[in-house]
Amino acid sequence: MRFKKKILCIGAGYVGGPSMAMIAYKCPDYQVTVVDINSARIDAWNSSQLPVFEPGLDNIVKKTRGKNLFFRTDIENQIKENDIIFVSVNTPTKSYGAGANMAADLQYVEKTARQILKFSQSSKIVVEKSTLPVKTALAMEKILSHAKGKIRFEVLSNPEFMAEGTAIGDLENPDRVLIGSRETKCGLKARSRLVDIYTRWIPQDKIITSNIWSSELSKLVANAFLAQRVSSINSISALCEKTDADINEVAKAIGMDRRIGDKFLKAGIGFGGSCFKKDILNLVYLCNYYGLREVASYWENVIRINEYQRERFINQILHSMFGTLAGKKLSILGFAFKADTSDTRESPALYITQKLMAEQAEIVISDPRALKNAKFDLAGAKGKVSFIEDPYAAAANSHAVIVLTDWDVYRRLDFRRVYRSMIKPAFLFDGRNILDHRKCFSIGFNVYRIGKPALTHI
Ligand code: NAD
Ligand code: UGA
Repeated sequence: MRFKKKILCIGAGYVGGPSMAMIAYKCPDYQVTVVDINSARIDAWNSSQLPVFEPGLDNIVKKTRGKNLFFRTDIENQIKENDIIFVSVNTPTKSYGAGANMAADLQYVEKTARQILKFSQSSKIVVEKSTLPVKTALAMEKILSHAKGKIRFEVLSNPEFMAEGTAIGDLENPDRVLIGSRETKCGLKARSRLVDIYTRWIPQDKIITSNIWSSELSKLVANAFLAQRVSSINSISALCEKTDADINEVAKAIGMDRRIGDKFLKAGIGFGGSCFKKDILNLVYLCNYYGLREVASYWENVIRINEYQRERFINQILHSMFGTLAGKKLSILGFAFKADTSDTRESPALYITQKLMAEQAEIVISDPRALKNAKFDLAGAKGKVSFIEDPYAAAANSHAVIVLTDWDVYRRLDFRRVYRSMIKPAFLFDGRNILDHRKCFSIGFNVYRIGKPALTHI
């Protein structure tokens, strides 16, 4: 079959895989190829065990893989053969040199631009899908401007706004798709070619276009605003605990104001995930770079409150359990950074577990999807830690149960059974405020929650 369009994505990660699978699913007449330098990852995409767990993803990949969706490692050939190339490589926080622990590490993006330049034999549209500091497109353009002969590249920005755990719904029915371009004749033409892809399933009024710098910056700002809401509600949860106000009641009362809205007002142990922290750090770095110290410090506080919230939670465990955790068995329910994902990158659970291990507690970790990553994250950690998928088995003979991920399965646990199997007094710390606290208290637990007074028998 001759395909109408041939699309390539460089980077087969959490974004590259699902977003390209959705394009292939919605556009059966397009050939979509995803390449990666990590051949094990490509093998996993071609197997029945996809490298990322995402509800609904298996189904879409099953329907498209081998028909119009291909996962491959021959990057050079694929660059030659495709004329729209998405770049969806990782952009972690830089861990070395100037800007260490702040700036985005752009080496993978730059390498990709150089590969595109080296292997291209015709003009192409290069689409930034990775989250990047504003003005990265300029660096891409400078590299790509060294093409031979008549080959020309147009760089577009098309940031991805999907969230893990809901990626398929987000990709199928996004709030908006943002496409930024140069406002030149060639830029606008390239932009309209990308708009054509998305209009295959997304209403025109949800596809917004802008200048390329607004597009790059909007992605960082969107994540910063979302994280800021989480830090805002978490900061108020600390005040609730001092004043007998209830954070859920406060969140409901303010969230019903349409100007505020009710999303991202769930207090907990702080945000995790691979992006919020790195993107805010990136924003802070940019502000400092441009001499905007006050702006930088404003956003930096979002991260500070996030760390404070985790610290408060750990201190509460330590102090309520009589000031010592040494030799006590603590069972952690949930290690993923949020429900419905196996991703543990920057998970608050990782930090909290390490701190509890440093107190010489004996840790048992349970999670329906993330145990493989948890084992990897804690390989070599000093102390006693074990991994058990069954939450009942994990909780047996423990001094405390600590909920760190908002998995639905934990809401439905038989807490009478859990209580019976535990050492008394039995402690329950709900870091996500998802359980029926009064019921657990009436069963006999000493219940500690976020932004509400504790319910204790001691
Ligand atoms: P990831 O680490 O899961 O995937 C990136 C992939 O790129 C890796 O498999 C890596 O091997 C590959 N890669 C790196 N350099 C390469 C090269 N030169 N050639 C081929 N492959 C190469 O990362 P991710 O979570 O998919 O995130 C990718 C980007 O998307 C980041 O900028 C991130 O901020 C952004 N983003 C992520 C999410 C999310 O939910 N994870 C959502 C929106 C945006
Ligand atoms: C987030 C954004 O929501 C996406 O729009 C964005 O594309 C993505 O980052 C990215 O750039 O990587 P994600 O990190 O997958 O998506 O998940 P979120 O649902 O945003 O949750 C992030 C963290 O905040 C989680 O740890 C979650 O538990 C926490 N959170 C979220 C709260 O503690 N309270 C809330 O009310 C909402």
